[in-house]
Amino acid sequence: MNDNFSFSLIATDGKARRGEISMPRGKIRTPAFMPVGTGGTVKAMYMDQVRGVGADIILGNTYHLMLRPGAERVARLGGLHEFARWPHPILTDSGGFQVMSLSKLRKLTEQGVTFRSHIDGSPYEMSPERSIEIQGLLDSDIQMQLDECTALPADAKEIERAMELSLRWAERCKTAFGHQPGKAMFGIVQGGDIAPLRVRSAQALSAMDLKGYAVGGLAVGEPQAVMLDMLDITCPELPVEKPRYLMGVGTPDDILKSVARGIDMFDCVMPTRAGRHGLAYTRRGKINLRNARHADDPRPLDEESDCPAARDYSRAYLHHLVRSQEALGAMLLTWNNLSYYQRLMQDIRDAIAAGQFQDRAAVITEGWVRGDL
Ligand code: GUN
Repeated sequence: MNDNFSFSLIATDGKARRGEISMPRGKIRTPAFMPVGTGGTVKAMYMDQVRGVGADIILGNTYHLMLRPGAERVARLGGLHEFARWPHPILTDSGGFQVMSLSKLRKLTEQGVTFRSHIDGSPYEMSPERSIEIQGLLDSDIQMQLDECTALPADAKEIERAMELSLRWAERCKTAFGHQPGKAMFGIVQGGDIAPLRVRSAQALSAMDLKGYAVGGLAVGEPQAVMLDMLDITCPELPVEKPRYLMGVGTPDDILKSVARGIDMFDCVMPTRAGRHGLAYTRRGKINLRNARHADDPRPLDEESDCPAARDYSRAYLHHLVRSQEALGAMLLTWNNLSYYQRLMQDIRDAIAAGQFQDRAAVITEGWVRGDL
C-alpha cells in the first residue's frame, strides 16, 4: 500500500471525474460518498455493514469527539480507527461548522472560537492549531482546516469577513499540520453566494498548495441553482490534480449535478438521518414507510438490490417496525439508504469511466421521476 497520500485521475467525461485517492489505510474510489459517523459511529450500522455496502472512507467530527469522549482519551485508547473498529480511511471535519450550529455562547475572534458544550455547558476553546491537534489525536487520515461557514442569506461584508478569516486560518492549519506524508489537510473554499469572493477564496487556497480542497458554505439555506452556480464558478479555479470535496451535500440529485461540475467527494447525514425517520431511498425515488399505504404491502423495497434490507423484508414489515419505533426499523432503513447511495456512486464511477455520464445520469433521474411501481 502507498505510504504517501496521492490522487490520480483515471478518466474524465465532460467535467465529471473518475479518480482514486491512495493512502496508507486504503484507497478511496472517487466520486465517493462518505457516510457520516459523527460521534465515532455511523448511527444504526455495524462497521462491517458500512464496509459491506461499499464505503471506502467515513467521516468523523472534531467537535463531537472533543466533547465526548474527549480527543486525548481516544488517543490513549489507540486512536479513532481502533476505538470505533474502522481500519479504513477517516476524514474529520474541523469543528467550526458544528460549533456554529450546535454550541452555546460562542465568541469568535482572530485567534479562534470559545464556546460552551451543547451537552453540559462546559467551556471550550477551539483554534486552528487546536483543531489540527485534535484531528491528530484522533489519528484522522484527511483533516479539514478550521473555517467559518456563513449561513445564507447573509450580507456581503459578513460573507467576505468570514471568508478572509478562513483563509488566514487555512495558513495556520497548514503550519500546524506540517509534513505528514500518509495524511492530508484540506482547505475549505468559502465566499457564500458571491462569485468574486468564491474565486478569491479558491485562488488563495490553491496558492497554498494543499493536498485537497473542499467547497464549504453551501447547502446552508440557498436554492440548489445557487449552489450549482457557485460550483460552476469555483471548480475551474481549483487545481485539476487535487481532490475536491463538497461538504454536507446532499440528495442523490445534488450529487449527480455536482459530479457533473467536477466534485469528487461528498458527505451528508441525509441517508442515515432519513433512515432513522422512516424514509427509504430507492431507484424509484423516496418511500415514506410511515405511510399507511404500506401496511399490507408484501413487496420488498427493491427486489433487484443486493442489500438484504432492500431485498428480503416486506414493506409491510418495515412499516410495522417504523410505526412501533423498533430499533430494527432504523437499522434496516439506514442499511438500505447507505447501500442505495453507494450503489449510486458506483454507477456514477462506471458511467464516467465508460464516457456515458450524462446518459446514465438522465436514466437514474428518470427512475426517480417515474416513481414507485
Ligand atoms: N459541513 C458542511 N459545510 C461545511 C463548511 O462550510 N465548513 C465545515 N467545516 N464543515 C461543513
